[in-house]
Amino acid sequence: MENNFTYAHNDTSSGERITPTAQFNIPRVNEKINSLRQSAFARGIPTADDETLSFLITVLSAVKPERILELGTAVGVSGAVMLDVCVGAQLTTVEREEAFYDEALKNFAAFGFTARVNAVLGDAGEVIGGLEGEFDFIFLDCAKVQYVKYLPRLKKLLKRGGVLFADDVLLYGWITGEVEIPKKRKMLAAHVKEYIDAVTSDGELFTTVVNCGDGVALSVKK
Ligand SMILES: C[S@@+](CC[C@H](N)C(=O)[O-])C[C@H]1O[C@@H](n2cnc3c(N)ncnc32)[C@H](O)[C@@H]1O
Repeated sequence: MENNFTYAHNDTSSGERITPTAQFNIPRVNEKINSLRQSAFARGIPTADDETLSFLITVLSAVKPERILELGTAVGVSGAVMLDVCVGAQLTTVEREEAFYDEALKNFAAFGFTARVNAVLGDAGEVIGGLEGEFDFIFLDCAKVQYVKYLPRLKKLLKRGGVLFADDVLLYGWITGEVEIPKKRKMLAAHVKEYIDAVTSDGELFTTVVNCGDGVALSVKK
């Protein structure tokens, strides 16, 4: 598949952020899913880095969710990993790029996951408004600039005791001040910082921001 996808901030990022712990945190991914993951890397398709995926797998193994919501399917790598780790879980996953969505459907089918996946093509902000029921795990991995806008709805969709795992919240080190924020990305960084402030001060959530991969905000609904 030809990949015409680019992040709005690709041109201003300094590339992958490597933490001191990354060397220890290599995910153990089933062989077939790993070959899709390597192909996604080779094609420049966005997918969770090693350390983030390793952390995601560990948290999922502890939480054992039955209903998972993912915002940002891409071609289905993290979705497939989550379904592989959480035997019996159902996944709802949302993607707005049609070419990614189409490939994700094929990939889920190839892994035998079709019956456990509700893949939705659309804008996450619109789709979450129409979702029903509660989820015990939410993997937030789409437009970072919208995280804070999605938060009130995601809190409603999250079961008590459920986990909201938000990826990339340290944005290449821009948020911690390790790396200077490029001028044209100040607004993006401000919105992500707003998300961090919101989840860390929210009375209904316990949240820890973890220096893992590009930064994860791990929230649990009280
Ligand atoms: C980091 S990638 C997801 C990677 C995937 N979770 C994985 O680890 O394999 C982010 C994805 O979110 C999608 N996306 C960005 N904004 C979106 C939105 N508003 N609604 C739905 N999808 C969106 C992008 O097209 C991209 O495929």
